[in-house]
Amino acid sequence: MDAQALYALRDVAGVPTHPVVFLILGVVTFALHIAAVQIMLGASGLTIWGALSKDSHQRRLAQSMVMVSKVMLSIAIVIGVAPLLFVQVTYDPFWYTSNVLSAWWVIGFLLFLTVGALLWFFFNAKNENLATEKTFCPGSAIFAVVMFLIVGFIMHVLTNQMLSPEKWMQWYAPNGVIDTSGRGIHDFNLARFLFFISLSVPVIGAVLVGYRRYYLPRLADKTLNMTQNYLDWAGRLGQNLIVVGGVVSVLIGAWWMATLPANQAAFALSPWVLLSLALLLAFVAFAFWVRMGKMDTLWAYAVLPVGAVALIMVAAAREILRYHVLMGAHGYDVFTYPINMDWYSTIMFFGTFLIVGGGVLAYMLTVAWKAGQAEGVYTPGPIISRMGDIGIALIVLWIVQYFAVGLYVWLS
Ligand code: HEM
Repeated sequence: MDAQALYALRDVAGVPTHPVVFLILGVVTFALHIAAVQIMLGASGLTIWGALSKDSHQRRLAQSMVMVSKVMLSIAIVIGVAPLLFVQVTYDPFWYTSNVLSAWWVIGFLLFLTVGALLWFFFNAKNENLATEKTFCPGSAIFAVVMFLIVGFIMHVLTNQMLSPEKWMQWYAPNGVIDTSGRGIHDFNLARFLFFISLSVPVIGAVLVGYRRYYLPRLADKTLNMTQNYLDWAGRLGQNLIVVGGVVSVLIGAWWMATLPANQAAFALSPWVLLSLALLLAFVAFAFWVRMGKMDTLWAYAVLPVGAVALIMVAAAREILRYHVLMGAHGYDVFTYPINMDWYSTIMFFGTFLIVGGGVLAYMLTVAWKAGQAEGVYTPGPIISRMGDIGIALIVLWIVQYFAVGLYVWLS
């Protein structure tokens, strides 16, 4: 397709700050989104595995994981909105066309997600004591995961279709007959989709290594129903999942690279892909190093953040591939997007993200961490209570300035 036609599809209002800012934020928030998705899928898999088993360790793990999955589902959904906004802003000509071509599935996305989430919440509510009680309706959990995978697949299709503008007309009007149904799934790359899904295995493995370390000081707490034997088993399982899952993911990643069309094939051996590969392998090696006698130390907590670094690199390579395809094959340069600089909204965004979001999140995470390690009812100390007060003050301040500025603009 003619690059001028693609440029004509851009928003005439331009973008409110340099496109590189949106691209970086897109990469970081996509990495956060996909990490939450992977923990959610990994935890769901372990929940179903345990719920269908009679093994006491597996069932105890399922009891923990059903909750992890529920929380991570919420986080994945909330954080998923961020890369959605960034991809719409920078790549609107491509993203919206891809969405319109599969509009039925874009709306269906909400339905599949709602049904999946409701089913998972239902399963969780009916199975609060998987460790000791018989599983109620495991089919609801399995069906929920199928729904989540369909949701992820729809996102994958939208991302993939946007990369082939030369095929849009053929999809829109096959053999010259216009199809406005939006029911078509026109393009997908199974290897690419499976690569992101398969990373759930090493990612949940890293979570298990941290899980073991986190509960180690609480072995005396009988309400938790955890033994040293159980935690060691969970840690070993986590380590095995990292090694096996890590290697399988790398192989699927190689398959994805091998399936790139001829005009993108050179990307497979680009420094970005090689760096991603090196970091994924470094993650597996680091976990192995922790396994060798450091599982009881604070290093056990570092496995997940090291995995996160590898994931950010994968997310960056994925974004560079998109740039490479759209620039190399179609002559579309995202960096030439006209900028209509809006300092207020830019400062407001970063202020909200870092100060309000960071402050409140720091408080919530600290309370959650401390509450999980305390026996019985947890009462925050003066410093943590102060963090909470500051967090609330920041939110109130934010709301006040939001309406004040709105009123000022309206009246002036
Ligand atoms: C809960 C189930 C979900 C799963 C399993 C899932 C999975 C995935 C996967 C595998 C990708 C990568 C696709 C690719 O690059 O080929 C992806 C991308 C993405 N997902 Fe999700 N996702 C889920 C929910 C959501 C939700 C609820 C949102 C939005 C609110 C969302 C927004 C996005 C966005 C914006 C992208 C990247 C688009 C792009 O940069 O091209 N996802 N998701």
